[in-house]
Amino acid sequence: MEEDMLNVVGIGPGNDGYITEVGKKIIAESDVLIGGKRNLEIFENFCGEKIVLGANLVEIKNYINENIEKNITVIASGDPSVYGIGKYLSKNVDNEKMEIIPGISSMQYMFSRIKVDMNDLYMTSSHGREPDFDYLLSHSKVCMVTDSKIGPREIAREIIKRDLKKTMAVGENLSYDNEKITIGKPEDILKIEKYDMNIVVILDDEQ
Ligand SMILES: C[S@@+](CC[C@H](N)C(=O)[O-])C[C@H]1O[C@@H](n2cnc3c(N)ncnc32)[C@H](O)[C@@H]1O
Repeated sequence: MEEDMLNVVGIGPGNDGYITEVGKKIIAESDVLIGGKRNLEIFENFCGEKIVLGANLVEIKNYINENIEKNITVIASGDPSVYGIGKYLSKNVDNEKMEIIPGISSMQYMFSRIKVDMNDLYMTSSHGREPDFDYLLSHSKVCMVTDSKIGPREIAREIIKRDLKKTMAVGENLSYDNEKITIGKPEDILKIEKYDMNIVVILDDEQ
């Protein structure tokens, strides 16, 4: 590993068995580990400095740029380039001094679990935005990472409103011990009042 580097490591969907060997090695050799609280907890034996990443994105970016001589690693859930911090860091840190190490996205994990290929998939997110449901639901295969405002129930209602023939798959807590995958028509999805951290797959009934 080169010195004066920022490494951005994808740590997979959550279960530490899904972190790549390359990612593990880079993390172990780092001086500073930056990541969300839930992600940092996985590395309880990490000996260096830990910094929690939350709403302090600009502060973290400044810290990285001012301390680039340190061996800093930012950990990101899933893959950093799939609705993760990779986009922000690639725009705000000298790319010559940054490496992104891919991880298994929650999306890839989910498609393996439901045994559906990812070919021609439309990937999207509801984080901090109001989705254009007419556009989104015009695709025959969609996967959405969700937030607390727009999740499985809201998506189900939008499908019902348009009388579309779709099947949904909701993956909660993927790769964790309490993983739950629910597959059904939008009406079935609405029968469940509350979903934990999840992603949603929406498939045309005729693929
Ligand atoms: C900011 S996005 C990060 C996505 C991540 N970069 C990836 O490749 O999976 C966070 C969202 O990803 C989804 N997510 C990440 N890990 C998950 C898991 N283990 N189970 C279910 N959803 C997950 C949830 O929708 C969560 O709100």
